Amino acid sequence: MLFISLSLLLASVHALPHRRIAAKHSLGAAYAVPAPSRAPGNATAGCRSASSWKFDDTNHANITLGDRSFLVHIPTTYHPTTQHALVVSYHGFKANDVKQEEITGFSEEGLTLNGRGLVAVYPNGQFGPGKDGNESIRAWEGAPYSPPGVDDIAFTQQMVQSLSDNLCLDSNRFYASGKSNGGGLTNLLACTPATAKLFAAFAPVSAALYAGANPQNCKPGRAVPIINFHGLADTIIPFDGQAADKEGRTEYATPNITQYREAWADRNGCIYLPPADSSSTTLGVFAVVSHPHVNTTLKTSNCSAVNTHTVVNGFTVADLGHSWPTTLGLDGGGITTFNATTANILPFFDSQSMEMD
Ligand SMILES: *[C@@H]1O[C@H](CO)[C@@H](O)[C@H](O)[C@H]1NC(C)=O
Ligand SMILES: *[C@@H]1O[C@H](CO)[C@@H](O)[C@H](O)[C@H]1NC(C)=O
Ligand SMILES: *[C@@H]1O[C@H](CO)[C@@H](O)[C@H](O)[C@H]1NC(C)=O
Ligand SMILES: *[C@@H]1O[C@H](CO)[C@@H](O)[C@H](O)[C@H]1NC(C)=O
Ligand SMILES: *[C@@H]1O[C@H](CO)[C@@H](O)[C@H](O)[C@H]1NC(C)=O
Ligand SMILES: *[C@@H]1O[C@H](CO)[C@@H](O)[C@H](O)[C@H]1NC(C)=O
Ligand SMILES: *[C@@H]1O[C@H](CO)[C@@H](O)[C@H](O)[C@H]1NC(C)=O
Repeated sequence: MLFISLSLLLASVHALPHRRIAAKHSLGAAYAVPAPSRAPGNATAGCRSASSWKFDDTNHANITLGDRSFLVHIPTTYHPTTQHALVVSYHGFKANDVKQEEITGFSEEGLTLNGRGLVAVYPNGQFGPGKDGNESIRAWEGAPYSPPGVDDIAFTQQMVQSLSDNLCLDSNRFYASGKSNGGGLTNLLACTPATAKLFAAFAPVSAALYAGANPQNCKPGRAVPIINFHGLADTIIPFDGQAADKEGRTEYATPNITQYREAWADRNGCIYLPPADSSSTTLGVFAVVSHPHVNTTLKTSNCSAVNTHTVVNGFTVADLGHSWPTTLGLDGGGITTFNATTANILPFFDSQSMEMD
């Protein structure tokens, strides 16, 4: 049903290129986030100069930056002087750029943000020692198996600078997302002032929220819009949290996901609305509960004490394992009746822009 209506909307976008997809559909009935203006945005340097980047016939370029790389996909509608939104998507432990593109579908034809095709970027993590300490496995900062000394905050800033210089982007519409270890990095970026203001919104999915990725002193410096997915059948990063992994290693401790979401709502200053018979309000957490998909509960925290748009959206998927939710089960942890990317994450990103801050 949702798929059909989204397809029709996409089709109408093709027919009417200056219209945008209505972003109301999937935040749950209770909280319709106001649509931002359709302002042209804030053009990056790449809008004013030609880039030497070469894209292949599938619209991909694999860019190297020092000892790192990131895979870039531009839409077929890419125009060198039109400001496009940017979605950065970080892979999970042991995965890579190609795998992340496959499971998320951010490069699929016809997807839009602010009514225009989006630029999707899949960076590669450095090789770390793995969980046994004697391997060579790609991973991001913030996990027990992270490559020692690697600064993925700085890498992200350098990558976004390079993208801004080489492509025509809207710097008000940069978004960060990731799966598992990449979801942990997404959270760390949201907790870090320099990157909390670089990206308008964040989507950590089945996030590996080890202490290094979810610092106790998380101080983003702004109210941060968050959309989070987590499966109740996740055995790698259990929804209820864990004090240690199955081998008893306490550095693998992860939080109760409900409390993790509430911490974000609190940090953002989301307001707690007491029962209607009381007139007082105190800061805290208030979540509206809805069921946007089969087996899926959404709790949306109202942050309108801070501004009109910041929300914390927590999707709990009953039968999902450690996975990015897709109908095709592309990520191994079971199938869902929806694709998180198109049903929820992109509409959420579409509703968020730095120009609203
Ligand atoms: C989810 O994405 C896949 C891959 O693009 C597609 O085949 C499927 O129809 C999508 N499902 C829905 C419900 O949109
Ligand atoms: C545009 O983006 C630059 C950084 O790229 C920032 O310094 C500036 O404040 C932004 N301006 C507006 C109007 O958003
Ligand atoms: C991009 O290049 C890097 C090496 O610089 C490589 O490790 C990676 O696999 C490449 N990605 C793709 C999609 O070819
Ligand atoms: C790494 O160490 C583990 C346990 O200590 C061992 O089972 C595994 O075979 C080792 N792997 C390699 C590649 O040496
Ligand atoms: C997780 O946190 C929520 C909110 O504090 C609480 O209601 C729930 O009981 C906790 N779950 C476990 C397993 O402790
Ligand atoms: C969100 O909170 C504000 C008070 O800050 C209130 O005016 C608004 O009605 C609330 N929204 C909902 C949907 O409850
Ligand atoms: C909903 O979840 C239950 C298990 O929790 C599962 O048996 C059922 O197949 C799921 N339904 C759908 C449509 O995914």
